[in-house]
Amino acid sequence: MAERIEWLEDGTAGGSPYSPRFGDRYRSELGGLEQAKAVFLQGCGLPEAWAGQSQWCVLETGFGLGLNFLVTWAAWKADAQRPRLLHFVSTEAFPASAEDVLRSARSHPKLLPFAEQLQRQLWGLLPGFHRLSFENGQVLLTLCIGDAKAMLREHNFEADSVYLDGFSPLLNPDIWDVHTFKTVARCCRRGTRLATWTVARSVRDALAQCGFVVKKVPGIPPKRDNLQGEYQPAWEPKRKSTTEHRPTPARCIVIGAGLAGAAVAASLARRGWQVTVLDAASTPAEGASGLPAGVLAAHVSPDDSVLSRLSRSGIRVMLQQAESRLQTGTDWHPTGVLEHCIEHARKLPAAWQAGQALAVAAHDWTTLATAEQLKHCGLPPETPALWHVRAGWIKPASLVQAWLATPGVTWRGQSEARQLLHKADQWQVLDAAGQLLAQAELLVLAAGHGSAALATSAGVVNPLALQPIRGQASWGLHSPDTASAMPAFPVNGHGSLVPNVPLAQGMGWVIGSTFERDSRSRDIRPADEQHNFSKLQTLLPVAAQALASQFDHHQVQGWAGVRCATPSRLPSLGPLENVPNVWVSSGMGSRGLSFAALCAELLAARLHGEPLPVEQRLADALLPQYAKHHANVLKT
Ligand SMILES: Cc1cc2nc3c(=O)[nH]c(=O)nc-3n(C[C@H](O)[C@H](O)[C@H](O)COP(=O)(O)OP(=O)(O)OC[C@H]3O[C@@H](n4cnc5c(N)ncnc54)[C@H](O)[C@@H]3O)c2cc1C
Ligand SMILES: C[S@@+](CC[C@H](N)C(=O)[O-])C[C@H]1O[C@@H](n2cnc3c(N)ncnc32)[C@H](O)[C@@H]1O
Repeated sequence: MAERIEWLEDGTAGGSPYSPRFGDRYRSELGGLEQAKAVFLQGCGLPEAWAGQSQWCVLETGFGLGLNFLVTWAAWKADAQRPRLLHFVSTEAFPASAEDVLRSARSHPKLLPFAEQLQRQLWGLLPGFHRLSFENGQVLLTLCIGDAKAMLREHNFEADSVYLDGFSPLLNPDIWDVHTFKTVARCCRRGTRLATWTVARSVRDALAQCGFVVKKVPGIPPKRDNLQGEYQPAWEPKRKSTTEHRPTPARCIVIGAGLAGAAVAASLARRGWQVTVLDAASTPAEGASGLPAGVLAAHVSPDDSVLSRLSRSGIRVMLQQAESRLQTGTDWHPTGVLEHCIEHARKLPAAWQAGQALAVAAHDWTTLATAEQLKHCGLPPETPALWHVRAGWIKPASLVQAWLATPGVTWRGQSEARQLLHKADQWQVLDAAGQLLAQAELLVLAAGHGSAALATSAGVVNPLALQPIRGQASWGLHSPDTASAMPAFPVNGHGSLVPNVPLAQGMGWVIGSTFERDSRSRDIRPADEQHNFSKLQTLLPVAAQALASQFDHHQVQGWAGVRCATPSRLPSLGPLENVPNVWVSSGMGSRGLSFAALCAELLAARLHGEPLPVEQRLADALLPQYAKHHANVLKT
């Protein structure tokens, strides 16, 4: 259940939101807008303080109805001197519904267009971090669902401004106590400014104890005072500043023009990097990312494993990218996906069951499939199956092209990297003849399983644990008979079927895929085609029957590619150990569509000391050096 909010009559369009849980109003009697502007924005010296900065990061306790976020976003948008990137990180223990967030903004017509965009992304807010993206990725909201203390401990960035909000200290002392402020202080640099509306003695004392120098400032009548402060501890903070070591965007070479490399290029270019993407092939997406169409669906597990959580974070980021860059129906379609649980008896976490606290948020992601959905696929009602709501199919190559078209990205084909040399703080990439292909300050290896040899060439001591896994998919074109026998959405669980994809030759279908470890072969094999068909017979007998004559009459095409997997089944994302300025984004396994965009944002965030889109613990599980170590723990 979303948090219950009562709307009190106050003469405004939406009414004044009130929390029965805390017995307090969400906004002051001044109305939220004035409070947000005068207390928080101006209290932190904004927008002047961010003028000319490359990025700015606001940290808030108590997201509530998002009014402070909306006001900050609107101020950013209206400011010619705005930073290239605005991060807003907010914690919220009791998330309100998307409808209530929109209703709260109704009293402020100028904020409504912003609130409508926010509302569309407020779904599936399970405990943990959620990265929401606006303004083509230039305004990033990290919503951390859970208690402020616990959520802030999962962060490792430096805020530039802090908004303290969280109902009255008398009614909700926890969010104003020294323990919460310690976790806030962990996210501050010397000079971080702070603002709030309460001047309660207990709050001032707790802030002072945590290293904040605070002062009362005049409020807008009837409020006498507000509080402003700065992080200026009398002691030397233990943590090293990340902001000081933030690289200035310069030149970067990405090796590999598949989903992983193209996504990294786009994320870095958005932050001001000039990125050259090199690939051995003559067109982009010639490797595993040349798959005609792939399935995007969350991984689920009864213990909501690291893989499951990361797959959801990745899908949220990927959906934002697909929505803003691809054409629905042509390049992708968020149809939902039915998972026929043949290979694994997939169980949803117990806390997601109907009637449980998390059910509403969880069911935005995955539910048990209904009898109608099963009937639609020609499956009996008792079939064990899940319905992935935020899911669908994507043509990976379309996305690769779209990412490579980002301003600041240059793509160069027929450029096979063989040797990497570090000279005078620059990385040089050489081809087989020893000719220089490119040089830059930063290098990213996104060459699928080829990344391992490149990392070794860069001087890494422990080779990257990346395994090639060959896979063959089969595809064909629809006749009117086959088209009518297809479900309206992809089905996975024992191989997969993407039933309706507009291909260059006409409307088609794609089924997959074989799985052959340690093979790099891209030959098309008739035996694999048969293998795919027999899997389809188990997965979806009705669809298989409709396609049988195409298999019998050799009207089926093959496509083969080589996946790249790690022992942990998680991607490999992070800087190479003991090698300066070389990062890797690879090991996407069978889930490149779920992971590529998230890994790219994670790489850019780690590089710049920005807030991470996922909890630190989850991000660390992807570090290349942990892949082997985590393998046994993470297998599900
Ligand atoms: C049959 C099959 C079915 C799949 N189905 C799905 C699915 O349904 N859903 C899903 O999410 N994922 C699926 N995947 C996985 C997905 O395709 C991959 O995870 C993803 O494409 C990996 O992207 P990448 O950029 O890491 O690698 P790639 O796309 O392989 O890109 C690596 C690039 O690096 C280049 N390269 C390598 N070495 C060098 C070098 N030395 N110099 C220059 N360039 C180099 C290659 O030419 C290549 O273009 C499937 C994969 C296969 C094979
Ligand atoms: C006054 S409202 C915040 C208003 C909000 N900043 C806005 O702009 O709309 C306070 C919020 O803090 C949340 N909250 C209370 N205690 C919390 C805690 N311990 N951790 C995280 N959030 C908390 C409440 O659920 C509520 O949504």
